Amino acid sequence: MQTSAGQDRLSVDDTARSPIEAGDPATDSRLFRRCLGLYGTGIAIITTETKGQRAAVTVNSFASVSLDPPLVLWSISHGSRSYPLFKNGGRFAVNILASTQMNVSRHFSSKIEDKFAETAWSAGEHGSPLLDGCLAHFECETYSQVEGGDHTILVGLVRRASRFEGEPLLFAQGQYCVAYSHPEVSPSPEVGGLKPETSSEGTIIPQIFEAHHLLSSTFDEHRHAEGLDISVARVIACVYDMPGLKTDQVARATYLGQRDTEDALATLVERGMLVNAVDGQLILTEAGRQRREAIRKRWQDFQKDQLAGIPEGDLRATLRTLSKLITQNRAAK
Ligand SMILES: Cc1cc2nc3c(=O)[nH]c(=O)nc-3n(C[C@H](O)[C@H](O)[C@H](O)COP(=O)(O)O)c2cc1C
Repeated sequence: MQTSAGQDRLSVDDTARSPIEAGDPATDSRLFRRCLGLYGTGIAIITTETKGQRAAVTVNSFASVSLDPPLVLWSISHGSRSYPLFKNGGRFAVNILASTQMNVSRHFSSKIEDKFAETAWSAGEHGSPLLDGCLAHFECETYSQVEGGDHTILVGLVRRASRFEGEPLLFAQGQYCVAYSHPEVSPSPEVGGLKPETSSEGTIIPQIFEAHHLLSSTFDEHRHAEGLDISVARVIACVYDMPGLKTDQVARATYLGQRDTEDALATLVERGMLVNAVDGQLILTEAGRQRREAIRKRWQDFQKDQLAGIPEGDLRATLRTLSKLITQNRAAK
């Protein structure tokens, strides 16, 4: 990156880097999706109802457009069964998912016949279904439509917006995520300025957050060294642990979207690490098994290196503390 004289550099590692991969999205759509996946989004369910017919789809293409008038947009694939209803219906609602609603996202992205049958919802003031448990609802009238290749962009004029308690569900690199403050944004406002009762009480939780963040980004480098991105690594681990699964079962077990699972599987087949048996069962080849074992070995060595020199008693005490925190917070969910 070029900087003009005297201009502050934004970070110490902003030197020009070679891309891991690059190419023409017109001929490599998986590369295109992997690049797009680096832009993290939230998840919304878009719902509509016209003449007693209801439709709903999971999307991450939702974005804000304008404050005056209040406009939002999202795009729908022409391949979606719900496309005609959204195109002609004239209204829709955007239901922003909370971090507790990963299964709602999966449910509404599936091809099941009646997506509303086992879902708690009510009719909104402007006629579109509103799902229970969401973080926000935007009830919209269709304001304009723009054709965009194999999708149509629907712009909605927001007639009513409502907000609820909770944390957002996020989606990045094909995976569901939750948001927490960047570790460099510490101490968090809640703990800043408070006098802890013991020397460790005030710092332990911020340190757990920071350790988690730093350890995951350090371990990412090992995964990259094996030439695997996070979704491919997750799929290879799943097929190794549960050989014989089919594609949709892998998507369920890895919590990756169907499309991201298919992309990861295609990458593994292309690289000779996976075969698709006649009955659709997925089997790792010897090369695939070796790659999985190489990552597992890297993981074991990583743990050993990171924990080297810490007395056994300290490790046991840390484990007890972490187990307690996990158990009490799981119980609270
Ligand atoms: C995380 C995620 C994001 C998605 N984003 C979109 C999107 O922005 N637009 C779209 O048309 N489909 C998107 N899909 C796929 C649709 O959810 C899926 O094809 C649709 O629900 C199928 O519905 P149908 O019953 O109308 O065929 C997404 C799926 C997932 C899992």
